Amino acid sequence: MPTDISPLIMAKNLSIASATGAELVKSISFSLGRERVALVGESGSGKSLTARSLMGLLSPSLDLQADTLSVAGENALTLNERSWNTLRGSQLAMVMQDPKYALNPMRTIGWQVAEPLKLHARLSRAEIKEKVCEMLDAVGLPQPAQLMQRYPHQLSGGMGQRVMLAIALIADPQFLIADEPTSALDHVMRDQVLALIRRLVEQRNMGLLLISHDLQQVSEHCERVMVMYQGEILDTLPATDLPRATHPYTRTLWSCRPGKATQGKPLPVLDRAALEAHREHD
Ligand SMILES: Nc1ncnc2c1ncn2[C@@H]1O[C@H](COP(=O)(O)OP(=O)(O)OP(=O)(O)O)[C@@H](O)[C@H]1O
Ligand SMILES: [Mg+2]
Repeated sequence: MPTDISPLIMAKNLSIASATGAELVKSISFSLGRERVALVGESGSGKSLTARSLMGLLSPSLDLQADTLSVAGENALTLNERSWNTLRGSQLAMVMQDPKYALNPMRTIGWQVAEPLKLHARLSRAEIKEKVCEMLDAVGLPQPAQLMQRYPHQLSGGMGQRVMLAIALIADPQFLIADEPTSALDHVMRDQVLALIRRLVEQRNMGLLLISHDLQQVSEHCERVMVMYQGEILDTLPATDLPRATHPYTRTLWSCRPGKATQGKPLPVLDRAALEAHREHD
């Protein structure tokens, strides 16, 4: 298969400021292709804002500036709401943290999974139903025909997240943004759902931006890692290099990861003074 090397998403000097002028994202640059990239960093570092800006979903009170922001071949800086709507679902999709809040409690699962198809494709009712069944099956949900009739409150968290993934992928987008897609799930479920996301992204030759606090998971399922700290991207590295990262912040994140090796042991603490000294040298 020929590899398409043109980036699906490209940001040059992307900044996001609050209404009061606080710089929340500070002139970050990156490009994302048909690859699996993780965005990691401590709480409040700007990961979700960055992700939302790529989906055209930033709150209107925030101010976005960039030299370039291109998403699936479109100039995201000049896109109107209608074009964003077309882009979302057809080219871009997002999975959020908690299906409890993202699914519509009043609609059946079948209705919700079918919705992106109604917006983006001209299909008969029978074709839509068939596609929904196939998609529910692809995300590992048993008895899709029965499931289509059910409502969100009748699902477990893991099932809900699989339904979210079905909604995200049914219109065959090129790029998936997953913002902590497994943090509301228990441990066993986390691994299953992330392995599923990875498998589907690979099978469909899509790009993935995975926001996660779980560096162990990231190292297993992603190819590249971008590390954010206080609105900046401090470090970018191949995921396989995480155990021997040279940047002090990346090293601390890696050594803080919860896992068998760290169970029962005190976690290392981030040395902010050393980090600031390192940043001044950059
Ligand atoms: N609509 C908004 N208006 C003002 N400030 C905001 C808004 N949304 C987010 N922020 C602030 O921007 C910063 C970055 O937020 P963001 O949600 O991107 O963090 P994050 O890296 O995703 O954190 P977490 O890991 O906790 O999800 C935070 O300080 C947050 O309080
Ligand atoms: Mg977030």
